[in-house]
Amino acid sequence: MIVYTFANLKGGSCKTTSAVSIAEALAREGYNVLAVDLDPQGSLSRWLVTRSGAVTSLLRGDVDGMSLQTADLGGAAGRIDVLAADRSLVEMDDLRATKISSRLKRVWDASAGYDYGLVDPPPSVGALVIGALMASDGILSPVEAGPGAMDGLKDTIELIDDTDAGSLTGTFACRVDRRTTLDKSIRGGLLQEFGPVDSGGQAFRTQIREAVALREARTAYEPPGLYKPNMSTVSDYADLTTELLNLETQKHE
Ligand SMILES: Nc1ncnc2c1ncn2[C@@H]1O[C@H](COP(=O)(O)OP(=O)(O)OP(=O)(O)O)[C@@H](O)[C@H]1O
Ligand SMILES: [Mg+2]
Repeated sequence: MIVYTFANLKGGSCKTTSAVSIAEALAREGYNVLAVDLDPQGSLSRWLVTRSGAVTSLLRGDVDGMSLQTADLGGAAGRIDVLAADRSLVEMDDLRATKISSRLKRVWDASAGYDYGLVDPPPSVGALVIGALMASDGILSPVEAGPGAMDGLKDTIELIDDTDAGSLTGTFACRVDRRTTLDKSIRGGLLQEFGPVDSGGQAFRTQIREAVALREARTAYEPPGLYKPNMSTVSDYADLTTELLNLETQKHE
C-alpha cells in the first residue's frame, strides 16, 4: 500500500475534496483505497460514510478492533474503505507525533488488500498532522487559487522540512476559475517554482476547476462521480490521478 497524506496548513484548501475525489478516481480505475480521516471535524467521514471514533480507538492502540465502513460508489471496479473520525480525535492531538506515526504504521501493516492509503488531516499544526506526514510515503499539497495561495504551501513545506516528515510528492492548484487572470497564473507559478512532476519536479500539470456541482455532491453526501459523472472536476481529478500513477511508474523504472 502506498500512503499519501493531503497537506496544506491553510484551512479550506481542498484537502478533503481532493482526498475524496482522488480516492474515487483510483477506485474507478480498479484500485482498492483505504481512506483515513484524521480530522476531528470528520468532513471526509461525513461525506462518504458516517462519523465514528474508529480512528480514535486505533490511535489509542486498539488495532484489532479496526472498524471500516465501505463507501457507496454505485458500482466501481475498486472500492473505498473509510476509517472514520469524529470529535473524540481532538484528544489524540496531545499524543506525541512519533506515537501517532508509529500507530498509523501499525494500521498500515494490519491493512491487507489495499493499493493506496489516503490520509486527510486537519489544517492546524499539531501532532495529528505531523504524525500523518511522518507515516506517509508521499505528500500531496493542494493550493486553493486566489490571493495568498502560496503562503499556506510555503508554511507546509517548512513544516515538512523542519520535522523531517516525508517529502512533497506534488502540488496542484484547485478551485481554479479560468476566467480570472490571477487564478490562471497559479498553475504557471507552481510549475515554474517546483518544476513539472513528469520531469523530476513537484508540480502537477493538471489544475482542478471550480465546480458548484462538487459542493452539491458533498451536501448530498455522495462521491462526485456518482452524483454527477460528467462534472468538470471528475475529469480533472481523473487526469491528476493519471499523472500520479505515471509518476509512480517513472519512479520504479
Ligand atoms: N473544485 C472545487 N469547486 C468548488 N468548490 C470547491 C472545490 N474544491 C473545494 N471546494 C470547496 O471549498 C471548501 C474547502 O474545501 P475542503 O473542505 O476540501 O478543504 P480542506 O482543505 O479540507 O478544509 P479544512 O482545512 O477545513 O480541512 C469546501 O466548501 C469545498 O466544497
Ligand atoms: Mg478538510
